[in-house]
Amino acid sequence: MSKPPLTLYLAAPRGFCAGVDRAIKIVELALEKWGAPIYVRHEIVHNKFVVDDLRGKGAVFVEELEDCPDDRPVIFSAHGVPKAVPAAAAAREMIFVDATCPLVSKVHIEAQRHNDNGLQMIMIGHAGHPETVGTMGQLPDGEVLLVETVADVAHVVVRDPAQLAFVTQTTLSVDDTADIVTALNARFPMIVGPHKEDICYATTNRQEAVKAMAPLVDAMLVVGAPNSSNSQRLVEVGRKAGCAYSQLVMRGADIDWRSLDGIKSVGITAGASAPEVLINEVIDAFKARYEVTVEQVETAVENVEFKVPRVLRETA
Ligand code: F3S
Repeated sequence: MSKPPLTLYLAAPRGFCAGVDRAIKIVELALEKWGAPIYVRHEIVHNKFVVDDLRGKGAVFVEELEDCPDDRPVIFSAHGVPKAVPAAAAAREMIFVDATCPLVSKVHIEAQRHNDNGLQMIMIGHAGHPETVGTMGQLPDGEVLLVETVADVAHVVVRDPAQLAFVTQTTLSVDDTADIVTALNARFPMIVGPHKEDICYATTNRQEAVKAMAPLVDAMLVVGAPNSSNSQRLVEVGRKAGCAYSQLVMRGADIDWRSLDGIKSVGITAGASAPEVLINEVIDAFKARYEVTVEQVETAVENVEFKVPRVLRETA
């Protein structure tokens, strides 16, 4: 039986960002330098496939520093950690390597600078996400107020409306965040913020590509993990940009073929922590069922690269 035709649109950029690439490299180089086991506090990046692969090479993933022995190196995940974590590792004289994405570290520095200048901080982010916990944890408990939605802005209780600054999580929806910033500026006209929000280039570019692709397709699949903030945002952006069937899939086996019955076109993108091998798996699953024509929807070209920390550079 001949296969039905399907146009498969591939968003570009998609998948791995420079921060994820660097974090994975850090674990691999640490394994080379110090041998297994290497402890990693939290999933190095939010992707089970990546984590399982590193586990197979000798990485041990734990949620808390207390779960690590003193005498093995530990790596902190790309999302960043509260200041208390490296301080505790130093007190225990552990070897530790910080794989926090440099663009998250930049936000940490901003928060500290505003605090040094006497400003109270507001963070726009998702409660409980490790990046939010890490950024809020740069300052003493209670110093950073969390705002998740436009509605939250009306209720936030500040010390002095004239002494305020805000930072954001790096993986938020560009459009939703712009609305929250507008609400903050309306309620607190003196609030100080970054020139552009702290949303990173990778998040912005992946959302832009989805916006361009969504109106062209009957269905859109985002390759990514349910706990990956930037992947979840791509699903939302796809729906808002006109593709009602926008879904997250972790890999090829997760595709719900019944709900795709009758489609003529599909868009595929991937969150910043999803490896290309999983994207290819999804493409191959379509090729097995359809006569596929592949088209790229390219809205930006990325050439960002981050160096690994010095301690691992001689190994690199
Ligand atoms: Fe960094 Fe953005 Fe990736 S903050 S880890 S470059 S999604």
